[in-house]
Amino acid sequence: MSRPESKPKQGESKRRGRRRGPSAERSGASSQKASAQKSSAQKPSALSPAQVESLLAGGELDGFTRETLTALGVLTLKGGASPSAHRKLKQVKHFLQLIAPALDELFERYTEPVIVDMGAGKAAMSLAIYDRWIRAQGRGQLIVVESRSELISKVKEATSERYPRLVAQAATIMEAELPERVHLTLGLHACDLATDHAIYRALTAKSDHVALVPCCQAELAQLLKPLKRREGGISALWSEAWHRREFGSHLTNVMRALSLRAMGYAVTVTELIGWEHSVKNELILGRRVARFHAGARDELMALLKTIPVEPWLMARLAELSWGEAPAQPREG
Ligand SMILES: C[S@@+](CC[C@H](N)C(=O)[O-])C[C@H]1O[C@@H](n2cnc3c(N)ncnc32)[C@H](O)[C@@H]1O
Repeated sequence: MSRPESKPKQGESKRRGRRRGPSAERSGASSQKASAQKSSAQKPSALSPAQVESLLAGGELDGFTRETLTALGVLTLKGGASPSAHRKLKQVKHFLQLIAPALDELFERYTEPVIVDMGAGKAAMSLAIYDRWIRAQGRGQLIVVESRSELISKVKEATSERYPRLVAQAATIMEAELPERVHLTLGLHACDLATDHAIYRALTAKSDHVALVPCCQAELAQLLKPLKRREGGISALWSEAWHRREFGSHLTNVMRALSLRAMGYAVTVTELIGWEHSVKNELILGRRVARFHAGARDELMALLKTIPVEPWLMARLAELSWGEAPAQPREG
């Protein structure tokens, strides 16, 4: 899907810049025209269904299937590609690049790796994972969990024949039926507590890897509100409603990262650029390396002493004895 670019000749703009008078104006106008032509030449154009067909047949769409590219919004429902298709494909490839080390490791270690996509929506990203790893190697399983049954119907409709290793469940994250052991848990823009539910299910299924892109967060803003005037100077960080939302969201993700560390995960927090649906751009990657980490738990406890809140996830981790005793998933 690459497009040729028309480059200006070397020194051209410098020579134009020195001219004066009407000829310079004429030249200015022609230079504007040239630059307009140049930018329209650079702008990606839409592709017809026939053009897309020939790219797919030639394997030039990075090995993704038509169904996956449609779910990703790279292809239109009529089978063509919009001018923004290049950008979308680039974003997908960027995300896949970031989680490739985890998936490569899982496919090397396990015969049938289980990947769960929590709050999957139309499962666009996990379908890209399906094409790249599960389909390519003919093994593994993808479980898609989404509470909106109409979205699960769409996923089933789009994937019924060509995705035999995909199971789509219309269920909440906490109620989803999962195998005892999961190898990669995805929580991509799962709203508010749904990210915490995904973390909890990952922990109880001893997921080797987690990849989370947290979405909107409201829980901490509520919990911080009554602490407005009590905690000395530090409460200035959340005394304004707007700051409370922003700081609450930041604090939530700090606590999520520390929780994963405390539960034995090596954690990397990085930026996920240019995601389509959201301005939320934080990617939390975790790899399970131990059963628990007392130092990280102490760090988290110290933070909670400074800012005394008890979010949902903290209470669940206490129930799991912070990983020190074998994890016992709670009912429901
Ligand atoms: C913003 S969308 C993200 C969809 C997809 N993961 C993505 O990145 O494009 C969040 C999805 O999570 C689903 N969701 C929210 N809370 C959920 C829960 N507790 N259990 C299952 N799905 C949930 C919503 O219905 C919605 O489809």
